[in-house]
Amino acid sequence: MTEKIAFLDLKRQYDEIREDVAAALLDVCSKTAFSGGPFVENFERMFALYSGCRHAIGVNSGTSALHLAMLAIGAGPGDEVIVPADTFIATAWGPSYAGATPVFVDCTPDTWNIDPAKVEAAITARTKAIIGVHLYGQPFDIDAVSGIARKHGLFLVEDAAQAHGARYKGTVVGSFGALAAFSCYPGKNLGGYGEGGIVTTNDDGYAAHVKSLRNHGSTERYRHDEIGFNMRMDGFQGAVLAVKLPRLDRWNARRKEIAAMYHRGIKNPAVTMQGQPEWADSIYHLFVITATDRQALMKHLEARDIFPGLHYPVPCHLQKAYANLGYKAGDCPNAEYLAAHCLSLPMYAELTDGEVARVIDAINDWR
Ligand SMILES: Cc1ncc(COP(=O)(O)O)c(C=O)c1O
Repeated sequence: MTEKIAFLDLKRQYDEIREDVAAALLDVCSKTAFSGGPFVENFERMFALYSGCRHAIGVNSGTSALHLAMLAIGAGPGDEVIVPADTFIATAWGPSYAGATPVFVDCTPDTWNIDPAKVEAAITARTKAIIGVHLYGQPFDIDAVSGIARKHGLFLVEDAAQAHGARYKGTVVGSFGALAAFSCYPGKNLGGYGEGGIVTTNDDGYAAHVKSLRNHGSTERYRHDEIGFNMRMDGFQGAVLAVKLPRLDRWNARRKEIAAMYHRGIKNPAVTMQGQPEWADSIYHLFVITATDRQALMKHLEARDIFPGLHYPVPCHLQKAYANLGYKAGDCPNAEYLAAHCLSLPMYAELTDGEVARVIDAINDWR
């Protein structure tokens, strides 16, 4: 019997930082700073510095971050927001929660990121914004998409949920759009010990609005300027994320080493990997491949105690939740191909070289 290799094992990282985490959590308890407060504010300052943005605003999930970003730009009923078909569904929830309509466009066949040509073709008189997703941790073609946004007077919002520390042409993502949304869900590269998210922006007005919206539409206690939400980050998340952020670059560097091993080692012609343009410095939140016969490859790997993930088996435009929008199979062929053939290899900083070699050998053995 060989040791199991899971797609993700959070316990190994916890073992490395458990003493610092325990001390940070006790500190929150002793100061009873459970909702918002100094631990969140400290993390916000750290993340703003890290991402090169004037503002980082802690919220209770990446989904909320997208929702608030949409409200900040004024997206609402009657507006269309262009989003990639190949992403986690929460990218589309942002516009939907704001009352706008997501318009799904295809990815490119090689980078699997949003296709700028498809974005331009989807623009109508109602288009308000484009959400680009740094999918699997790899930046999308920001210059191309922001050029289109500028040309048509649209907002660009980054969905950086999977991309803490990824770089586009040398600059960390999060400051390219009007706003950006990060997720701190536990499995993310910068994950909390519960739900969490961050909005970043360089605009003081957006920052003030997002801070108010996350706190019941209030800047002064018991005075409410508009209908707001309870979307504050909790103190435990602020404290844990502040413990983890100084280690993020080291963990991301190890993910890059593992990705390089996969890239060098996987030779099976029945498998393809995400195309990497020279301007995209991915932090490999996920290492997704496609296989000509996914089911067969999964069975083959599982028989060798290797357990891959699936991101994502149904593209957004074909989800039942959006059946009313009238999309059909064939509308986004590249995203549909990916959904039908994708498989996520084990990827986390604590994987050993031996484990990575086992995954590579198993894939190369597959016929
Ligand atoms: C691309 C993308 N967008 C948005 C989200 C939503 O983040 P959260 O799960 O923190 O709400 C996620 C995370 O799952 C994601 O992967």
